[in-house]
Amino acid sequence: MTEPSSKKIRVTVSRSDPGTERTFLVERIEPMMVLDLLIAIQREHDPSIGFRYSCRVAMCGTCTLRMDGRAILACQTPLEPDRDKVRLDPLAGLPVVRDLVVDMKPFFEEWARVKPYLEPVEGLDEPARIRPDSPERQIIDPSLDCITCGACYSSCGIADHKRDFLGPAALNRAMLLIADSRDAAGAERLDAVTASDGVDRCHYIYGCSAVCPKGLDPAAAIRRLRRWRLEGRPR
Ligand code: FES
Repeated sequence: MTEPSSKKIRVTVSRSDPGTERTFLVERIEPMMVLDLLIAIQREHDPSIGFRYSCRVAMCGTCTLRMDGRAILACQTPLEPDRDKVRLDPLAGLPVVRDLVVDMKPFFEEWARVKPYLEPVEGLDEPARIRPDSPERQIIDPSLDCITCGACYSSCGIADHKRDFLGPAALNRAMLLIADSRDAAGAERLDAVTASDGVDRCHYIYGCSAVCPKGLDPAAAIRRLRRWRLEGRPR
């Protein structure tokens, strides 16, 4: 339950007119998520402000933006009660469409390049399941919850600088599919991710793993892919 508060928070928001930004003094509620703040600005201060959201429960990955420089999900990030100012910017490394809304096309182009879906091996029984205690399940499960929010991509200096780097989200996805014994395209995927625009571009800055709102570790997935290149796929 939200409680009104007499406190206000100073919010600086990037606007898409080149080089412009706006500052709003917004009334706090407790608790207050960053998304609540944006909705309050839109309702009470400036209806033209552009931002994106859908599920409000950290599942759809559409509300990603930067708070004080760090990529976050606006719907799951609370504002600390004693915070009196905050800065909001669009994700880095992606073209701005309007205000806090970015064009995710470069991110999804990389995602599509690893064929991010299972290609079933021939004759696979339905339903094909992997035993919960199997070694491959131990590899797959911790990497499974990607919501394609782009926080990792935005926080990767290499993905930003070199547009032909597959990037952490696509590499993480490829890794868990390569580990999956039901998938027939593992060898092809491993070739793709170890090509010149793949794992070797990663410099292990760890920005991806530091910001993932689902607690995934794409840098570990990239390390694993490098190892599999030398040792072969786990089969
Ligand atoms: S609104 Fe869906 S993840 Fe934030």
